[in-house]
Amino acid sequence: MTTRPEIDFQSLSADLEPTVLVLAGDGAALSARGRELDQRAGGALTKAAEAGQYKGRRKASLEVLAPPKLGGVNRIILLGTGKGGEMNENDWVLLGGSAAGAIAGRKTKSASIIAEAPDGAGIKADTLAALLAFGASLRSYEFSKYLTKKNSEEEGNGERDGLQKLVIHCADPDKARAAYARYAALANGIVTARDLVNEPANALGPVEFADRVKELEASGLEVEILDANQLAELKMGALLAVAQGSVRPARVAIMQWHGAKTKRAKPVCFIGKGVVFDTGGISIKPAAGMEDMKGDMGGAAAVVGTMQALAERKANVNAIGIIGLVENMPSGAATRPGDIVRAHSGNTVEVLNTDAEGRLVLVDLISYVQERFKPRLMIDLATLTGAIMVALGKEYAGLFANDDKLAADLLEASAETGEKLWRMPLDKAYDKMLESKNCDIKNIGGRWAGSCTAAAFIKYFVHKDMPWAHIDLAGTAMDAPKSEISPSWGAGWGVRLLDRFVADNYEKTEK
Ligand code: BES
Ligand code: MN
Ligand code: ZN
Repeated sequence: MTTRPEIDFQSLSADLEPTVLVLAGDGAALSARGRELDQRAGGALTKAAEAGQYKGRRKASLEVLAPPKLGGVNRIILLGTGKGGEMNENDWVLLGGSAAGAIAGRKTKSASIIAEAPDGAGIKADTLAALLAFGASLRSYEFSKYLTKKNSEEEGNGERDGLQKLVIHCADPDKARAAYARYAALANGIVTARDLVNEPANALGPVEFADRVKELEASGLEVEILDANQLAELKMGALLAVAQGSVRPARVAIMQWHGAKTKRAKPVCFIGKGVVFDTGGISIKPAAGMEDMKGDMGGAAAVVGTMQALAERKANVNAIGIIGLVENMPSGAATRPGDIVRAHSGNTVEVLNTDAEGRLVLVDLISYVQERFKPRLMIDLATLTGAIMVALGKEYAGLFANDDKLAADLLEASAETGEKLWRMPLDKAYDKMLESKNCDIKNIGGRWAGSCTAAAFIKYFVHKDMPWAHIDLAGTAMDAPKSEISPSWGAGWGVRLLDRFVADNYEKTEK
């Protein structure tokens, strides 16, 4: 469910909403339109800045109430850019988030943002407008569908009390609207991912999740849902071993986007772990904090959000998204520690810990897509290990890759979007830790390097010469640190990263 305000682009001279946000640069320097408003209001803005010792530092805001002679404008908020020339693309997005945050605190229904850089910021006017709008849109997200009081009592009619309309004023509204289109698609994908992660597991089992994916056919994706019988026919024994303890049957959702000019261009492939709830199974987790395991489908959510964004912005690429949807439960039917299961690849796996379930789901998807789609590369995303948080905390996701070009491209997209990645090692020594006496491979290594042995397990199923990356987003997908643009428990992490990765590397030329 989306509660974000409607975003509209209008000219700098268009009528202003009652709440207006103006950017202020270093030393509280105002943009041209800001200076004009200041003059009309008899210097109210510059006087307030002086009185409040306001210097226009990045993200610092100053509110000027009831400025004189400005018609219906009853509040102007100055928001600092600091030295605008030092801002990169993501800084402008974050500033758009700060703008929405400053406005939201004022309980106003509609607002204007003057998207005009104070002097010295070397950024195109329409880009600036689009980036601010993108950040504001992301910040305005809330997961409030279950707040029955907030939704009904306060307003009496179920109307939300937040911002409903945001007007971005800029030099060329048509150009800005066009520049924003791709970001609007991206924001929609991120919101989908956040909604999926935030949704509790009782409402979002494998079947319900698959139904939501199916709805994305409206965006132009081709969606195929495989049910448990089909998965059994395909011999996805590892994935099904995770699902068998739950009364809710497994699903696999396959999303295809055919956007490349050459229809036969080999697809890029995204693979997501979609454990709708991870109790640990028979190797059950401790009670404290277990509720967070409703977010153990954050990888799948990122894949779905990415595919939606690519389709909505009609990306010039062929892409496949595949997600494995299961619930990991203990029961009389559950997989036991010590069980040996047969993966889709034909390999035998000894399940020594039923809580190391995500990798079992992923490897069946990986061998299936290699066989069926022969992708040009594969990137899997999974909330795979607690150990990645021990290593990197909640700031960085872990990146494992068997291909330096793929790793470099992902790190580049990471730097551009601010979704941070840190490369982690693959090594034969980790492979060795997975050797089993009883069958081909076991699903856990030893006590140490839990994230690395998890990656090594997946690597075992990746064909030689297939460029592959694994992103462990256990720390970043859920319960993420709040930021200017991410106010919610489910971060939608990874959608921006993958969208940019595709845009930078696989859309420009047909390779
Ligand atoms: N879903 C968990 C990983 C996780 C933990 C994600 C905390 C987010 C927050 C995963 O399935 C898991 O349980 N991993 C185990 C692996 C171990 C049994 C080898 C872990 O990290 O402890
Ligand atoms: Mn687990
Ligand atoms: Zn898990």
